[in-house]
Amino acid sequence: ELSENEMIERVKAIKERYGKKLLIPGHHYQKDEVIQFADITGDSLQLAQAAAANKEAEYIVFCGVHFMAETADMLTTEQQKVFLPDMRAGCSMADMADISQTEQAWIKLQELFGDTILPLTYVNSTAAIKAFVGRNGGATVTSSNAEKMLSWAFGQKERILFLPDQHLGRNTAYNLGIPLEKMAVWNPHTNELECDGNPEDVIVILWKGHCSVHEKFTVQNIEHIRSTKPDMNIIVHPECSREVVAASDLAGSTKYIIDVIEASEPGSKWAVGTEMNLVKRIIDQHPDKEIVSLNPFMCPCLTMNRIDLPHLLWSLEGIAQGKPVNQIRVDEHTAKDAVLALERMLEHV
Ligand code: 13P
Ligand code: SF4
Repeated sequence: ELSENEMIERVKAIKERYGKKLLIPGHHYQKDEVIQFADITGDSLQLAQAAAANKEAEYIVFCGVHFMAETADMLTTEQQKVFLPDMRAGCSMADMADISQTEQAWIKLQELFGDTILPLTYVNSTAAIKAFVGRNGGATVTSSNAEKMLSWAFGQKERILFLPDQHLGRNTAYNLGIPLEKMAVWNPHTNELECDGNPEDVIVILWKGHCSVHEKFTVQNIEHIRSTKPDMNIIVHPECSREVVAASDLAGSTKYIIDVIEASEPGSKWAVGTEMNLVKRIIDQHPDKEIVSLNPFMCPCLTMNRIDLPHLLWSLEGIAQGKPVNQIRVDEHTAKDAVLALERMLEHV
């Protein structure tokens, strides 16, 4: 059993030995014990851009979740190898859209709407879903560029299938002025459109997926803050439900939340609806502001949390000993189509 200090020393020594040949990207939701070693931190868009721009690193040890490591693999060269320190670091939202369900849905949607639909997928999706979207002319989006990409998509086709997060899809479409009556949910379990009105009027089809972390923030949490601390600003991530976003003061991506709080006046008060590791870090970085989690029982992303210091060290030691483990490799055929979807996004941001 190594002590925490011993682990820290070993990670430092390996980082020093490899220099620029080793890159450790860290998503904002990662724990501090991991983030302290990240060469770049960012939201999913920033990390995808950084992976695409980096040509030096031979080894990329990705501190985030599986779909992010897949994206990094697809945006880097054949010589660059991507590793995930714990294979159990998945994303429950990405798992809510599997490729066979999506292909079945697509057949049915073509019967309903003909060739009027373009698929878009949140980057929080498997490489197979990104490939499906790329093959069908669509693009990926992140929470930082979803509005821009949805507007782009409406320049291509009349209707959009938005995978796999219904909340990001609904919140984004709503911000573009699309009324809720023109949106309907696609239920992958029944392979049916859940729609009260006339399906012909539907222009945004929302895949019935969600983030189990952000769905835990409720309107009751907001009402509680409004009644106990009426001068607090409430800021949430658009993976929260429409009702929660509507009742909040501001909503935006992880980067947006960080930037807005950063730019606020000393003494500002914030209740934040996003992942716990990030909220804790924002609180620590702004002792001059009053910041709380919107949900008093803060919600960690359990799969993000699987990457910890022992797993990071284990992954690095595998590389240092010439026996690397957990390489993430997307097959060439899938990657070719998925990259089309990713590049359509990267061109627009
Ligand atoms: P962003 O990094 O795009 O804000 O997404 C949040 C998230 O849930 C990542 O898994
Ligand atoms: Fe997936 Fe939500 Fe965790 Fe992000 S926070 S990795 S969307 S489960």
